[in-house]
Amino acid sequence: MKTLQRTFSIIKPDAVAKNATGDILGMIQHAGFNILGMKMLWITKAQAEGFYAVHATRPFFESLTTFMSSGPIVVLALEKENAIADLRKLMGATDPAKAEHGTIRKKHAASIEANSVHGSDAEDTARFELSYFFAGYELTR
Ligand code: CMP
Repeated sequence: MKTLQRTFSIIKPDAVAKNATGDILGMIQHAGFNILGMKMLWITKAQAEGFYAVHATRPFFESLTTFMSSGPIVVLALEKENAIADLRKLMGATDPAKAEHGTIRKKHAASIEANSVHGSDAEDTARFELSYFFAGYELTR
């Protein structure tokens, strides 16, 4: 029996600004993900701080939250078998210099901060991140 898993992703401001949204969505769909929800938003710095609260004590927090509120993003609710691990594999390493060929970050990311995409790293973070940007009724199937 197939066990479907949900994960959350963001197409970040750098990728949206360079019109890579369509290509990244294509890569995600080609990898077998079903898009359950999708919206384009321009979040505030406070909203970015809430989303990345787990990183609040990191030295890059200020810069990261300024970047994430610097332009439009696309937030995605995704579903497939093994979605969390498979999306992280498709994204590639956080630092694009270390990302493997065929990954989204290898193709599109410019730096460790402007790294084109975000993906949840575990089931509990996926639950938090999906509920941060999507109401339950938006993802009812
Ligand atoms: P993301 O997957 O969105 O999760 C946290 C983000 O912080 C990460 O992608 C990077 O964009 C960013 N990040 C992680 N490490 C660093 C770093 N050393 N310097 C700047 N940004 C970082």
